[in-house]
Amino acid sequence: MNKSIAGYDPLERVLFSREAIALRVAAMARAIQADAEAAGAGEITVIAVADGGLMFASDLIRELRMSVRFVSVKVSAYGDGMTPRDEAVVTGAPECIRDEYTLVVEDILDSGVTLDSLCRVLRAGAPSALRTAVLLDKPTGRRREFVADYTGFVCPDAFVVGYGLDLAGRYRNLPDIGVLRRALQPS
Ligand code: IMP
Ligand code: MG
Repeated sequence: MNKSIAGYDPLERVLFSREAIALRVAAMARAIQADAEAAGAGEITVIAVADGGLMFASDLIRELRMSVRFVSVKVSAYGDGMTPRDEAVVTGAPECIRDEYTLVVEDILDSGVTLDSLCRVLRAGAPSALRTAVLLDKPTGRRREFVADYTGFVCPDAFVVGYGLDLAGRYRNLPDIGVLRRALQPS
């Protein structure tokens, strides 16, 4: 595995550049804020799905020019590898989101298990609204019907890393999103 810092370049192919991501995130924030204001919300409760959604959420909330309450939850649907599981376990859901205008922020919508499970849990808390924002949507992976309210980009049917997306905890720090070099992919 190439872990050297000099010449560190684990991506075979960049699919979404840092510049494209920044532009899209800003546009998403404008749409999210406009909808929240139109709904009469004075504040958005942003619930980021850790760990992958933290980078996206961090950039997104800094584009919002309104009051934000920020919390994160853990939802484990994937183990360390690339094979999905069928159920997701939610930990750290906020105690109270009753009557709060709530936005869930996640890195990627793939099978739908993570967001579907999380939204079921959160809906029980009776927020005034429950919206979802995903940076990437990989429609080919869907095993549960789920439509996000805000989508950054449609992602091809490939395993991608970077900007929060990981393989066993690695590559989240890459500023661009892309496909790993073959030598770095698990065999
Ligand atoms: P879902 O539950 O299958 O919709 O997937 C959501 C989670 O799966 C995300 O939080 C990611 O952690 C993970 N995931 C899905 N596809 C990818 C990928 O291409 N790269 C990295 N992680 C992924
Ligand atoms: Mg993840």
